[in-house]
This record gives sequence, C-alpha cells and structure tokens, in this order.
Amino acid sequence: MEKVRVGVIGFGNMGSAHAKHIYDGLINGMELVAVCDTDEAKREKAKAAFQNVEVFASHRELLKAGLTDAVIIATPHYFHCPIAIDAFNAGQHVLSEKPAGVYTKQILEMNEAAKKSGKIFAIMFNQRTNMLFKKAHDMVQNGELGELKRMVWIITNWYRTQHYYDSGSWRATWAGEGGGVLLNQAPHNLDIWQWICGLPKRVRGFCSVAKYHHIEVEDDATIYAEYENGATGIFITSTGEAPGTNRLEIGGTKGKLVIEGGKMTVTKLKVDEREFCFDCEDNFSTIPSEVEVIEQTEKESAHMGILRNFTNAILHGEALLSPGYDGINEVQLSNAAYLSSWKDKWVEIPVNADEYYEELRKKAENSELHEGIKNDKHADMKYSERWSVRW
Ligand SMILES: NC(=O)c1ccc[n+]([C@@H]2O[C@H](COP(=O)([O-])OP(=O)(O)OC[C@H]3O[C@@H](n4cnc5c(N)ncnc54)[C@H](O)[C@@H]3O)[C@@H](O)[C@H]2O)c1
Repeated sequence: MEKVRVGVIGFGNMGSAHAKHIYDGLINGMELVAVCDTDEAKREKAKAAFQNVEVFASHRELLKAGLTDAVIIATPHYFHCPIAIDAFNAGQHVLSEKPAGVYTKQILEMNEAAKKSGKIFAIMFNQRTNMLFKKAHDMVQNGELGELKRMVWIITNWYRTQHYYDSGSWRATWAGEGGGVLLNQAPHNLDIWQWICGLPKRVRGFCSVAKYHHIEVEDDATIYAEYENGATGIFITSTGEAPGTNRLEIGGTKGKLVIEGGKMTVTKLKVDEREFCFDCEDNFSTIPSEVEVIEQTEKESAHMGILRNFTNAILHGEALLSPGYDGINEVQLSNAAYLSSWKDKWVEIPVNADEYYEELRKKAENSELHEGIKNDKHADMKYSERWSVRW
C-alpha cells in the first residue's frame, strides 16, 4: 500500500479539522477519500469544502462502499466503540478520538474486535506528543525517580463557558455524553497520569455535579488513588476555575519532577531516600541532590503527530505512540471515580464493568437532552489551541 485511503466519521469540531489537514496533504501517506456525518448540514459543508471525497450519511454506508483502508472516528463518545467494532469487522484500521468509550464494558468489546481483526488501532491522545510528558514517562518508567511515592496533578485550566455546554445537544448529559470534565476534557491528563505512573489499585472519587454550570454532569472532580506499593495520587480537575492551574508533581524514592509553566524541574537525590532514612546518623539531615530544569523547546506535534504516527504504523510498521488498547486505562480511572462518588465507597481497578454499566444506565434513563445551539462557528476545520497542552 502506498497511501492510506481514509474516511473521517463525524464532521464536527474535531473531525472537520482532521479531514481538512489530511485533504490539504499535511499527512504524508494519507489521503482523504470519504467523510460521514449524520447531520445533513455537516455533509453539505464537507461537500462544499472537498472535491473527489465521497460523503455519506452513516458509517455503515461508508464502510460498505469499500473506498477506505482506515477510518478516523470523531463522533460523540458513545458512538466510538460501536463504530470501531463495525470498522474492524469491515477490515479497517481505526484511529478513534478520545475517550475510547464511555464505559469499560463497551471498550472491552471493541478491544476484542480490534484483536480479532489484527488491524492497526490507535487513539487520539495528542498530548502524549508533548516532549515534557514524554520525558517524564521515560524517567519514571526507567526507574530514574526510584519507587513511586506520590503523584499530584492539579489540572484546572480546562475552563469552559455555559455557551460551550449549550453548543451541542449531546454535551454534558448522561445519555448524550456519559460524563463531564472527567470524560471529556480530563481524559488526556488521566491517560498521561496512567501512562507515566501506571494504574492505581483503588480510588475514591468526589465529583461535583453542576457546580459552576447548568449541566447534568460533573464540572469539578477530585480523585484520591492508592497504588499497590502504597504510593498515593491526587488528581484535581475543573471546567469552572479561572485562572486555572496545570501542575504535575511526581515523587519517588530517588527524587521528584514538577511540570508547570512549560518546563520540568527534576530533582535527583544522590542517595535513595529509603536507604538514607535508615543509614543516616543525624536527626535533621537533608539528602544531597542535583536539580535540572528542562524547558519545552519544541511545540508538540499534537493531532498531526498522532495522524502521522498512525499512517506510518500502517505503511511502515512504526510503533504507535498512542495504541488504541491503552484507551481503556483512563476510562478505568473515570468510571471508578464516578462509581465511587455515586456510591460513596472505594472502587477497585479494574472497575466492575457490569456494575458501572448498570449505574450509568440508570443515570442515562433520567437524562434530559437539550436543544443545542445551532451555531457552527467553532467547527472551522482548524485545530484549536484549546486542545493543546496549556500551561
Ligand atoms: N483530541 C482532542 O483534542 C479532541 C478535541 C475535541 C474533541 N475531541 C473528541 O472528538 C469527538 C467529537 O467532538 P466534537 O467537539 O468534534 O463534537 P461535535 O459535536 O462538534 O462533532 C460531532 C459530529 O459527529 C456527528 N455525529 C453524531 N453521531 C454520529 C454518527 N453516529 N455517525 C456519524 N456522525 C455522527 C455530529 O453530527 C457532529 O457533526 C468527541 O469524542 C471528543 O471527545 C477530541
């Protein structure tokens, strides 16, 4: 195969940006051949924007047409898994937008279909392309900070207005979106947390519903997590704080790193704290250390980086930076936090998929979908700065 012929499913804010960048030839080795959206106005917009690109009203029609080698799914969250399953069954490579799905039960089914198909499966965790997160990932995974002790992430700069929540009828409802800040904005950070530190064994979640907006779901959440080795994690996120904070601190027995303001400060201890604690013959000694500051010197390749990596994985076997199978991990964290918050209890990871699905179903049954503002000004076929890492 010389070129990956791709179809974009869902031509809204995100899908239209992916489609336009591919159409404009910015992703070497990838060619836009089809677009699909259930909304007629979006289909008209795609027809007006592109030549020689087929436009479909349903993903099944698109798959049946047999024009594509791969699809990119950029619909509302609930449709990611069922569409991906149909696509894998039709022999397509799949790149799904985040989150992988709304609940782990559907993601497990999708992963099964992916495995059976043997096709390339990736997920759009574009923030993994940020050099500071990559560096932190490598340091922690290589043991440079020793054994994990603590992770604290305050990520409250996902500010959103009421107008944003009103902009799509599916947004911020249990039936349409399946969650709030933990399921829409924070998946990037939940993914990077688990990518760097691994998954904790149990969590308590504190999710505040409609704290700052007129919505059905949470717009403010705190997760307290415990790891198998006793390490703890705190994750705080919100769409209602201004100015917000983005500060990640990870501490281990050999030092700590802090990422904030577009730089990472790494403090490495000359002696492992656990040894020092018991070998030192003084009461108040501090451990000698070295400090290094690493600036973010390169702009992240973001969505285009993931699109290029997906293309190269199909054409040349390049390793995926963001494999689709990783998508379930951050949903484990958000599902566990919701269940914990609803039931006021600790929730073990992996979360009980049936129990979570049952509780979510009850919420969705009482959900009220709203009208949605017919205002397309943000679906302008461009990547928005608000989707990049913001310091
Ligand atoms: N990676 C990122 O940085 C990023 C940023 C924004 C959005 N997203 C993700 O992209 C997805 C879409 O978000 P958005 O902001 O573009 O939403 P949107 O509402 O602007 O677009 C969704 C589009 O999907 C269409 N659609 C709905 N159901 C469909 C179906 N069954 N088949 C085909 N089309 C369907 C809608 O008509 C709409 O045009 C979400 O999952 C969101 O989490 C990711």
